[in-house]
Amino acid sequence: MKTDYPQELAYTDTSWQRFSVDYNYPVSFSHALFDPQNLVLLDTVCRLEANKCHRVIVFIDSGVVSAMPTLLDEITHYTQMHAKHIDLVAAPIVMPAGEQIKSELHYIEQMQKRLSDENIDRHSYVIGIGGGALLDAVGLVAATSHRGIRHIRIPTTVLAQNDSGVGVKNSVNLFGQKNYVGTFAPPFAVLNDYDFIECLPERDKIAGMAEAVKVALIRDAEFYVWLEQHVDELATFQRAAMGYMIKRCAELHMQQIALGGDPFETGSARPLDFGHWSAHRLETLTRYHLRHGEAVAIGIALDARYSVLCGLLNPGADERICFLLEHLGFKLWHPSLESRNSRGKYAVLQGLTDFREHLGGELTITLLESVGQGIEVHTMDESQVGLAIEWMKRRQTP
Ligand SMILES: NC(=O)c1ccc[n+]([C@@H]2O[C@H](COP(=O)([O-])OP(=O)(O)OC[C@H]3O[C@@H](n4cnc5c(N)ncnc54)[C@H](O)[C@@H]3O)[C@@H](O)[C@H]2O)c1
Ligand SMILES: [Zn+2]
Repeated sequence: MKTDYPQELAYTDTSWQRFSVDYNYPVSFSHALFDPQNLVLLDTVCRLEANKCHRVIVFIDSGVVSAMPTLLDEITHYTQMHAKHIDLVAAPIVMPAGEQIKSELHYIEQMQKRLSDENIDRHSYVIGIGGGALLDAVGLVAATSHRGIRHIRIPTTVLAQNDSGVGVKNSVNLFGQKNYVGTFAPPFAVLNDYDFIECLPERDKIAGMAEAVKVALIRDAEFYVWLEQHVDELATFQRAAMGYMIKRCAELHMQQIALGGDPFETGSARPLDFGHWSAHRLETLTRYHLRHGEAVAIGIALDARYSVLCGLLNPGADERICFLLEHLGFKLWHPSLESRNSRGKYAVLQGLTDFREHLGGELTITLLESVGQGIEVHTMDESQVGLAIEWMKRRQTP
């Protein structure tokens, strides 16, 4: 190579900085977490420093508080009973529920201000109790305040217990884009309590099951068949079946993060986001009228049909998947699926662009080559997506 710059600038000395960090955190399944006899939370807080009194701040989802009116007192009582080790710096702070907390950035600042006011330091604990949306927002607060404070997640929805709560991501929405601002930050611990699920509205019990169908379809044929065999118990929210579904789904998500080779998604793939390119767009198009899980169920049906149309998946497998989703209680049609942009194109197709831009590299979408086996593709044919949408509409028309 020709070098026409001064000799001293032609010299470059590069040394490589290299280290790795071993992440580990427990994911516990328990119940009656705030019964003073239950030591899971106490042991978690004392894990690294057993003889100290730890400062703890709690942010809690307003929907959980409405459904469990005695919970705030139970939390306070628990910390009083274990006051030697837990210093609850303020009464649990109730935050807006659902997508609202992720859609208005001032809530992040409001929570950060509380951390600052209460002198929460890097050895203190930020506990989030709530659905996936609240956990995403509190996780971002914990990850960014003081560049990272220990964060304990207590997920309270099916979706948060079987998927989002056990993961390493947090985020809020900005510029009309889902999850635009966020970090990868593993939690200090995840404590699941099935008692929360009992209080959940049926709509949210159903919504969270979409992630179980998703992960079974791309990773675990045996689990998929189990879901089919137990569909009646799941559709009526039987505790034993729901408990197994949540745990198995959480395990599959944990395996992907630990063993998939790219826990912080630096590559071009988001392997667990089958059905999500359209789901995220549908959530935005419906102004979050659709729950995340409800949009994912539609996205799964769309991508299953598309997989058949492009010859990857056996004909009939799409119907089989829709049958399971519908028996679990999902509606697989929403009018926003056929809304068009100013150029007459299906508006949902913007989801492909968003996906590509989010990943930064090549478009990578997971489709199905069989029930239980995902396959990555790098292009989607827009006209075939259109045919898949028309098929879904026809299925809904009596
Ligand atoms: N970080 C990740 O890896 C990840 C993965 C998947 C989804 N997510 C995010 O998770 C969010 C969806 O989470 P979600 O499905 O848990 O919904 P959600 O957090 O929006 O909660 C749904 C509703 O349930 C209420 N609720 C929560 N727990 C309750 C309980 N025990 N009893 C009664 N009501 C209760 C909430 O107040 C809310 O009204 C989306 O924002 C999605 O983007 C994140
Ligand atoms: Zn999801």
